[in-house]
Amino acid sequence: SCGMMAGVVVRALCVTVLLGLPVTQGGISSSFTNTVCQRSGSGCVCSTTSTGLVVECSSRSAETLFPLDLPSQAVKITLRNYNVFKIMYEDFKGADLLQELNIINCGVQEIGDWALYRLTKLQKINLHMNRMTEITKDDFYHMINLVDINLSNNSISTIRGDAFYSVHNLKTLNLLGNDLNCNCEAKRLKEWAYLRTGKVTVLDAC
Ligand SMILES: *[C@@H]1O[C@H](CO)[C@@H](O)[C@H](O)[C@H]1NC(C)=O
Ligand SMILES: *[C@@H]1O[C@H](CO)[C@@H](O)[C@H](O)[C@H]1NC(C)=O
Repeated sequence: SCGMMAGVVVRALCVTVLLGLPVTQGGISSSFTNTVCQRSGSGCVCSTTSTGLVVECSSRSAETLFPLDLPSQAVKITLRNYNVFKIMYEDFKGADLLQELNIINCGVQEIGDWALYRLTKLQKINLHMNRMTEITKDDFYHMINLVDINLSNNSISTIRGDAFYSVHNLKTLNLLGNDLNCNCEAKRLKEWAYLRTGKVTVLDAC
């Protein structure tokens, strides 16, 4: 049965078989007309704004995996109260217009290797209220359009000194509500932010 198998691809196939949706990759649908925006009871609200399609999804059960039929043309996606655990490259593959991604209270512990790197238009990411414990260089590697990273209310104790070196346009980094270990690595982060005075605001970095 589907329940015995693991992995995003298998999950996607299971949902495809069960609901007849044309899902080919991670959480983004390959179809324009068969997405959470058309599916009733999807838990998502879609609206068209001057910047483009905005999708806001919320789950009532923290056990629910996030929707696998998100629209690829979204400029902003918000996911609340899902069970995400690890953000994978496949999850947002094809969301080429995405400018803002909010994954809030979803139990995220990890960002997979370079998982978000190819979202070249992404300017804002908000991971408020998750379970991240460490930020490494690869998490936001070379995301040159990212200006706002919000990691408030996680369980982050370790930030590698070079975690944000390649995020050249970063302006605001919110680390409030974490439990930072103020070691040498954290000091390197602080020095980096200091060197870029006037360009980066770091909220609560030791
Ligand atoms: C971070 O996200 C939380 C929750 O959405 C919000 O209340 C807060 O204002 C955000 N902070 C920044 C600096 O974006
Ligand atoms: C987030 O962290 C701030 C700062 O520690 C705290 O005041 C606030 O209550 C926390 N919010 C939630 C929703 O846990």
